[in-house]
Amino acid sequence: MTGLENHYSVNDIETRILTALRAAGLNPEQRLSPVKLGALDHFHTGGFRASLVLKDLVQIRAEDHVLDIGAGLAGPARMLAASPGCLVDCIDLSPDYCVAALLLNRLTGLGEHVSVQVGSALDIPFADNSFDVVWMQNVGMNIPDKPKLYQEISRVLKAGGRFAFQEMLAGETPATYFPLPWATDTADNSLISASEMHAVLARSGFSALYFEDVSAAPLPAPANGMDECTAQVPLSLSAYVDKPRAES
Ligand SMILES: C[S@@+](CC[C@H](N)C(=O)[O-])C[C@H]1O[C@@H](n2cnc3c(N)ncnc32)[C@H](O)[C@@H]1O
Repeated sequence: MTGLENHYSVNDIETRILTALRAAGLNPEQRLSPVKLGALDHFHTGGFRASLVLKDLVQIRAEDHVLDIGAGLAGPARMLAASPGCLVDCIDLSPDYCVAALLLNRLTGLGEHVSVQVGSALDIPFADNSFDVVWMQNVGMNIPDKPKLYQEISRVLKAGGRFAFQEMLAGETPATYFPLPWATDTADNSLISASEMHAVLARSGFSALYFEDVSAAPLPAPANGMDECTAQVPLSLSAYVDKPRAES
């Protein structure tokens, strides 16, 4: 197992998820709403709220066929399947996360709209020109070979297709504190700066419809202000990293 696979592996993930759901007052014997699960299964900065923002920016339509790369527990994929009602294919390097995604698909009754398979972003297991939208949240920071990543995304997108992504980017000083939420050590940390990302995307044939750097903005509030996200605290997988405080 590589360091990255080890970083994203979880023992007995199904039992742990079922236990967490019950602890949060949800009944896995009854059909669960993807919105209620939103505090558990959106595994990126900003959580469920950030996925909603991205969905609105990309103006995804029900007829869009979507590929979610590095889908994790597939929360964003179920959000898109529930509304506007897309078909979403998910790939992820982590077999454990794929098992969990399939469990949550079953518990939400969305298995027919959301497929899940183990697969690499660097060798996407789909034919050329397959998707209207490629969706990716907090994955590129684990992938050093950005040209190959964007080449693969471009290959599976239909002409005129959209690539919707949310990424961690390198700041002015290199990351020196480990573990980070996405990397146990430096080997799996592949952050690049915003300008490097623009350049490599342009070289890969993408043009920017919208790009916003929100690194200076305050961290988003957790989603527990939202009526639907009732289970935020006990279910949260969120992890935030901040600059170390200056010694006083
Ligand atoms: C921080 S999680 C984000 C999960 C999901 N995108 C979300 O936002 O809820 C990063 C995910 O990327 C996956 N991943 C990392 N490198 C990958 C690669 N080369 N191909 C496919 N998945 C990858 C990991 O296994 C992990 O599930």
